[in-house]
Amino acid sequence: MRDSERAVSIQNLTKYYGKFQALDNISFEIRRGDFFAFLGPNGAGKTTTINVITGLSNFQQGCVKVFGYNTTSEYIQTRRLVGLCAQEFNFDPFLTIHQLLVYQAGYFGILPQEASRRTDELLDRFQLIDKRNVKHRALSSGMKKRLLICRALIHDPEILILDEPTAGCDLELKFLIWDYLTQLNNEGKTIFLTTHYMEEAERLCKTIGIINHGRIVRIGNKQDVLKDKSLEAVFLEVTGLE
Ligand SMILES: Nc1ncnc2c1ncn2[C@@H]1O[C@H](COP(=O)(O)OP(=O)(O)O)[C@@H](O)[C@H]1O
Ligand SMILES: [Mg+2]
Repeated sequence: MRDSERAVSIQNLTKYYGKFQALDNISFEIRRGDFFAFLGPNGAGKTTTINVITGLSNFQQGCVKVFGYNTTSEYIQTRRLVGLCAQEFNFDPFLTIHQLLVYQAGYFGILPQEASRRTDELLDRFQLIDKRNVKHRALSSGMKKRLLICRALIHDPEILILDEPTAGCDLELKFLIWDYLTQLNNEGKTIFLTTHYMEEAERLCKTIGIINHGRIVRIGNKQDVLKDKSLEAVFLEVTGLE
């Protein structure tokens, strides 16, 4: 694989929080255009891995690249290439949702007129255009989830990273989000999502990586991973924690 075809490349990544080792020498790659599910129980190290890729977290050892750019030494390039949809709602309470997306675009050097155009396009696509001039407090939690996705997409990143996007969603919203993500992947976006729902990984993804206790247990194309009987113990642990 050429460097620019590797959406994410992680080599020998080790991360400690104080004395606690959250990631133990993990290595894996995600190719451009893939729909990758990072599956593992609570506390496995999924969010920590995402924080390292997006530059929110430091690490003690290893090399992490996004489309060939090093996330430490070339972070300006890597941050533009990545859109992050975090697990928690963390919106500015004083802004309308339109302003909020325009401000976000500003972090990437997108000028207000273009930012406003992109914002309305995304709000329309994610069925939030009627709410354009309200603050996020006035949205239902399903709308807030969609707003998180809009914010992650405002600078048109190459890879969309979602941390447990459907945790706590009702069935209808879960299906809606799955549809959006499938569409985005069909349009060429690389998608990396973490989940502790086996079903989500099975339904959506092309490639599955399984992480447990900070180690990669298995990674490969979906059919191969799902066939692997030796994984039943981890699956039981994963599904047992839902
Ligand atoms: N800021 C932190 N300080 C100390 N320990 C942390 C911190 N963030 C996460 N951890 C620990 O690291 C491990 C991995 O956490 P995390 O990456 O959030 O797991 P996941 O997202 O798979 O549920 C857990 O044991 C968690 O308690
Ligand atoms: Mg997490």
